[in-house]
Amino acid sequence: MSDQMMDAVRSAEADETILRLEGLSKFFEVETGLIDSIRNRLSGQEAGTVRAVEDVSFEIGSGQTFGLVGESGCGKSTLARAILQLIRPTEGSVYFQGEDLCELSQREIRAKRRNMQMVFQDPQSSLNPRLKVGKIIEEPMEAHGLLDKEGREQKARELLEKVGLSQNHYNRHPHAFSGGQRQRINLARALSVEPDLVVCDEPVSALDVSVQAQVLNVMKDLQEEFDLTYLIISHDLSVIRYICDRIAVMYLGHIVELGDKEQLFEDPKHPYTKALLESIPVPDPELSEVRSVIRGEVPSPIDPPSGCRFRTRCQSIIPSDQYAFTDNEWDAVLGYIRSVKYREISPDKPEQDYEQFFDGVKLDRDVDEVLRRSVNQIESEEWDEAIDLLYDEFIEPSICAQERPKYQLEGDKESEGRYVECHLYQE
Ligand SMILES: Nc1ncnc2c1ncn2[C@@H]1O[C@H](COP(=O)(O)OP(=O)(O)OP(=O)(O)O)[C@@H](O)[C@H]1O
Ligand SMILES: [Mg+2]
Repeated sequence: MSDQMMDAVRSAEADETILRLEGLSKFFEVETGLIDSIRNRLSGQEAGTVRAVEDVSFEIGSGQTFGLVGESGCGKSTLARAILQLIRPTEGSVYFQGEDLCELSQREIRAKRRNMQMVFQDPQSSLNPRLKVGKIIEEPMEAHGLLDKEGREQKARELLEKVGLSQNHYNRHPHAFSGGQRQRINLARALSVEPDLVVCDEPVSALDVSVQAQVLNVMKDLQEEFDLTYLIISHDLSVIRYICDRIAVMYLGHIVELGDKEQLFEDPKHPYTKALLESIPVPDPELSEVRSVIRGEVPSPIDPPSGCRFRTRCQSIIPSDQYAFTDNEWDAVLGYIRSVKYREISPDKPEQDYEQFFDGVKLDRDVDEVLRRSVNQIESEEWDEAIDLLYDEFIEPSICAQERPKYQLEGDKESEGRYVECHLYQE
């Protein structure tokens, strides 16, 4: 074969898709019985359907390190568990090496698990304290009927060295190890069955920052040596940035942006991604508090916002064409609505605050009339009514509230291009 042909074959192999999700969703029913409803109310949880992961589609190429990043509760672990069929998805397909795992029986899934392993966050609780390290690493091989007893021991000893521990550790119990060492044991255990895909849910979150890089480096080395594909989940952008090639940003059950690492960090498209990047903590102990640039709470996944999931916290809502706003006017209107929402307008002198907001902005008569009605409501402390009025008039008719954004940018294959759930990128 000519060198050119070899190159072509190699790049075709590199482009091979190992995992493809199509419209994957996982919903949980939260009980509505009397006791449960009391308990839920006490814990602040509502009853209904938790839409933890909804209509997620993406591809992971063989050999890639794919990162999934998002705030606590956005659905990362649920997505990982649904991919590996540890919980069965509500809807959609998970094609692993071409086969839809959702169509397989539990028995067939168990056989597949050999090729797709998972490493969990907490190295403390994920290792059985009663077993010696050697046994822990050998367990998956035994479960899948691989090698004989000596073969397994030899493999376990080799793996201990590969993850940067030593053969002397074979007969020790896990309590004798530090967090970083335990996570190395977890990696050895996952690799013992020679998987193709390893899903790591917050693999270094429980570790000291100084140890995190060491474990991530071991992961990188192992990837090269064993041809692994990684799906790495983390809420920590610096971890994702360090190790991943391609990144998906998750918010309230949706993937809101997907792209190559360089693209995503250098030119973030989604307002949520931009906000996330701006809130990366500064490595200065004096400034230890991460000041979030995103205002407001993440809405409940039981009743997520219509249209764009991020629109209740977004600063870039697109006006409906009902009114012809200039950018300047719309910014002022959005700023005013936000101030009403967070009750920053003084009910003693709302008129004055209002004039200040729109100082120098010449509003349409219709718009001014609606806004002044809200001012009157604030004056009589009818905040909810004022907010409802402003939302019904200006926010709900926006495309951001009307339609879920789904835009594919550049490249026509999902594995190459960039995906953004924001109407600012509408053609
Ligand atoms: N078994 C369950 N029953 C009901 N709701 C659930 C269940 N598991 C998860 N959820 C809910 O689904 C949503 C997503 O949870 P998930 O654990 O996937 O988030 P996460 O992104 O992994 O968060 P973290 O970063 O804190 O680990 C949350 O609102 C959570 O409360
Ligand atoms: Mg999680």
